Amino acid sequence: MKAIVYQQYGPPEVLHVAEVEKPTPTAEDVLIRVRAVEATKTDCEFRSFKLPVKWTWLPLRLATGITKPRQPILGMYFAGEIETVGSAVTSYKPGDTIFGCTGFDRGAYAEYVCLPESATLVPMPHNMSFAEAAAIPLGALNALHYMRRANIQPGEQVLITGAGGSIGNYAVQIAKAFGAEVTGVDGPHKRAMVMKLGADHYIDYTKTDFLQMDQSYDVIFDMVTSTPYSKCLQRLNPNGRYLLGNPRFFKMLRSAITTRFTDKTVLFAFAGETEAELHALKEMIEAGQLVAPLDGVYTMTQAAEAHHRVETEQRVGVVVLQIGD
Ligand SMILES: NC(=O)c1ccc[n+]([C@@H]2O[C@H](COP(=O)([O-])OP(=O)(O)OC[C@H]3O[C@@H](n4cnc5c(N)ncnc54)[C@H](OP(=O)(O)O)[C@@H]3O)[C@@H](O)[C@H]2O)c1
Repeated sequence: MKAIVYQQYGPPEVLHVAEVEKPTPTAEDVLIRVRAVEATKTDCEFRSFKLPVKWTWLPLRLATGITKPRQPILGMYFAGEIETVGSAVTSYKPGDTIFGCTGFDRGAYAEYVCLPESATLVPMPHNMSFAEAAAIPLGALNALHYMRRANIQPGEQVLITGAGGSIGNYAVQIAKAFGAEVTGVDGPHKRAMVMKLGADHYIDYTKTDFLQMDQSYDVIFDMVTSTPYSKCLQRLNPNGRYLLGNPRFFKMLRSAITTRFTDKTVLFAFAGETEAELHALKEMIEAGQLVAPLDGVYTMTQAAEAHHRVETEQRVGVVVLQIGD
C-alpha cells in the first residue's frame, strides 16, 4: 500500500510517499481503508521534534525513537471505510464508513490502518464528506469535553480565546448549540470564519484587549497560554468558570486554590477522546449544529505543503490530507 512516511526527524520535506507493507488484522481488529486524515500541529511536532514544552523532549523522544522515528507513519484523526474485519469483530462490517482516532499509535497517513474494534470509531455522519469528517475528531472532541465541563446554561455569556484555532472553532459552535451568547477572540484574518461559525461578537486581539473591556462572562475558555490568570478571573461573573484549554504548570497549581477558596471554578482536563463523545458529535453534525471548517485538502504527494501550512500558522480552518485517489 502507499503511505506518507518519514524516516528522519526534520522539516516538512522529510515526508514522502512510499510503498509499505499493508497491515494484517487479527481476530479483534478492523482493517480501515483511510480516505482522509487531518494534518495536525501534533503531527508536525512528531515530525520536526520541535516541541512547545521543552521538558517533554526526552520522554517523548524515548517513546518515539531516539535517532529516527520508530513509527514512520503519522496521522491520528481520520475518516474511511471498513475494508475487512477480524473473526471476533461484531460491531462493524466491510463497507461501513467511519471516522475516529488511532490514539498514540498513529499510522493514518496511509491507505490502510489496522485498529482494534475497541478503538474510538463511530459511523460517519451522513451529511459529511470524508475530508470534513476527518477534520472533526481532534478539535471537536477537545471542544466538547471542555464545553460540557463548563456546564453552560442557555443565555450565559461565553468568551473563547483562540476562537479561530483548531479547538476554538468547534468550541464556538458547541457553545452556541448549548444556548450561550458567544464572543470569539482571535486575529483579524479569522474574524469572517468565526462569525460564520455562529459567534455573536468578535474581538480582534491585535487591536483590543478583552481584559481591558467592561464586559464580564460566565465562562472563559482560554486556549492562549499567555493570558494573565488573575485578570481573567476578574472578567468572570459570580460563579464563573475559567477553562484552561492550554494549561501551564503554575496556572494548574493556582486553579485548585481558586476553585477551593472563591466562587469561581478553574478547570483543565485533557479530552478522553471517547466513542460516546464522538457519537454525540455525530448527532450534532446530523442535526446541523456543527460543521467542519476546512482550510484546504491536499493530496498525498502534497503532504510537505500541508505541514508547511499548519506550522506557519497560516491556516484558517482545518488542513486535511486526502488519502488514495
Ligand atoms: N487541553 C487539551 O485537551 C488540548 C488538546 C490539544 C491541544 N491543546 C493545546 O491548545 C492550544 C491551542 O490549540 P489549537 O490547536 O486550537 O491551536 P491553534 O489552532 O494554533 O489556535 C490558536 C489560536 O489562538 C490565536 N491566538 C494567538 N494569540 C492570541 C491571543 N492573544 N488572543 C486570542 N487568540 C490568540 C491564534 O491566532 P494567530 O493565528 O493570530 O496566532 C490561533 O488562531 C495548543 O497550544 C495545543 O497544544 C490542548
